[in-house]
Amino acid sequence: MVPDTYSTDRLRAERMSESHLGELRMMHQDTRMMAMIGGVRDEAGTAAYLERHLVHWRQHGFGFWMLWDADTGTSVGLAGLRHLTLDGEDEVEVGYGLLPAFWGRGLATEIARECVHQAFGYLALPSLVALTNDANVASQHVLRKVGLTYEREVTHDGRRSILFRGTRPTGDQP
Ligand SMILES: CC(C)(COP(=O)(O)OP(=O)(O)OC[C@H]1O[C@@H](n2cnc3c(N)ncnc32)[C@H](O)[C@@H]1OP(=O)(O)O)[C@@H](O)C(=O)NCCC(=O)NCCS
Repeated sequence: MVPDTYSTDRLRAERMSESHLGELRMMHQDTRMMAMIGGVRDEAGTAAYLERHLVHWRQHGFGFWMLWDADTGTSVGLAGLRHLTLDGEDEVEVGYGLLPAFWGRGLATEIARECVHQAFGYLALPSLVALTNDANVASQHVLRKVGLTYEREVTHDGRRSILFRGTRPTGDQP
């Protein structure tokens, strides 16, 4: 099992819950944050997103965490792990998104590295994927920095994406 809460050097992570609806709404209405991940969502879209993530946590014992600046307590973004079906195969994806005010400081790399470690350590997954828009060079850079590599192009949820994959390093055991 992964922890409900944990900290990295600069971030505090909290298991996504009903109490985070306000922060999620704010993120989902941020055009820059959402540009590469499907565009802004309305209130119904955010409520449905939250419900999917709550169900995921209950079913699988892991999911997405909300992120806070460890020093100031300001809402920073979200990141985590989720199941998805790709070309008929069950996979686990690492995902992350930060509010624009927090870009360019290495924070996505910091939290993605922790999520990858949790996937290979706590969950002992043999492999992990990430989907990214072809134009999302910053995210591709993050994925490479945390050890994932380009695998192929895929269509998921009607969107053409680039699929990255990482495999569990020997030694990263639970
Ligand atoms: C993509 C995103 C997560 C990056 O977050 P971040 O905290 O700025 O990322 P980091 O600072 O950890 O690393 C970004 C890296 O990409 C590089 N980079 C940023 N923009 C770049 C660009 N246009 N071209 C090439 N490299 C770029 C940075 O220099 C950095 O690499 P470095 O540490 O070697 O210098 C952030 O912009 C975001 O949340 N975007 C909206 C949601 C999103 O797209 N999520 C990812 C979905 S797959």
